[in-house]
Amino acid sequence: MPDPVPPVPAPGRVLVAGDWHGNTRWAQGVIRQAPHLLAGEDRKIILQLGDFGIWPGIPGGAYLADVAAALKESDTWLLFVDGNHEDFDQLHATRDQWVRDSGRPLLSPVPLAGGRIQWLPRGYRWTWHERTWLALGGGVSLDKAGRIEYYDWWPQEEITGEQERDVIAAGAADVMVTHECPGGVTHTFPPPPPWWNLADLARSDAHRERMQRVVDAVRPSHLIHGHLHIGYQRTCDFGFGPVRVTGLDMDGQDWNYAILDTRTMEWEKPQEVPQRYADW
Ligand SMILES: [Fe+2]
Repeated sequence: MPDPVPPVPAPGRVLVAGDWHGNTRWAQGVIRQAPHLLAGEDRKIILQLGDFGIWPGIPGGAYLADVAAALKESDTWLLFVDGNHEDFDQLHATRDQWVRDSGRPLLSPVPLAGGRIQWLPRGYRWTWHERTWLALGGGVSLDKAGRIEYYDWWPQEEITGEQERDVIAAGAADVMVTHECPGGVTHTFPPPPPWWNLADLARSDAHRERMQRVVDAVRPSHLIHGHLHIGYQRTCDFGFGPVRVTGLDMDGQDWNYAILDTRTMEWEKPQEVPQRYADW
């Protein structure tokens, strides 16, 4: 099983993608552009920012198989952090099995569906071009009121206090790859639908504050996240130096993905957008 991260040489440019929500056609459309958009890269890597689409049952299995097939066809690898809409029971069972079978540490990338898809668990760190990267998935489902526990909602979606402490204890990192947006990055949202539970809005606010506490301790200079379904870039001041914050939009939207040069940390907007999948 080849590893996507060191000891394999660091990539130059990678494709970074926001939420996919198990949208097979959209995911395939993005993956199939990787050979062109990442031409010249020995190892073509997509970094996906959560709400990837780990899901129970036959549809969940079919999605993973279809994504894995597109990756193989495109000779591309996909690394993802978990979002909030994922089947965490499945993800954790796969991780536990992998750790048992491989003897790898608990904080290792977990290969899925043949290995070209790899989950980066919360707190996993790696080095590309002398920068420390930190994966920290998790988020709060604001639409939990319309979902059923352990059927299409899982309580493990939230970063726990223990995970927060562990990540902070492991020290500084240069780049954070997250699903959640830290609370210190202000956004204006439209009024929530009436069926959302106010308790979930409060839970989300608290979770964003938790992410901010981690950021304040880890002091990254770059943070990349999904979840909010908006594409934007902003330089934020949290009191320890500038942080370049990049959010990517959801599947079906123009700003769902972009190219990041991991040597310079400069972004490029791909010219090609799979418009034919835009209705999905
Ligand atoms: Fe999402």
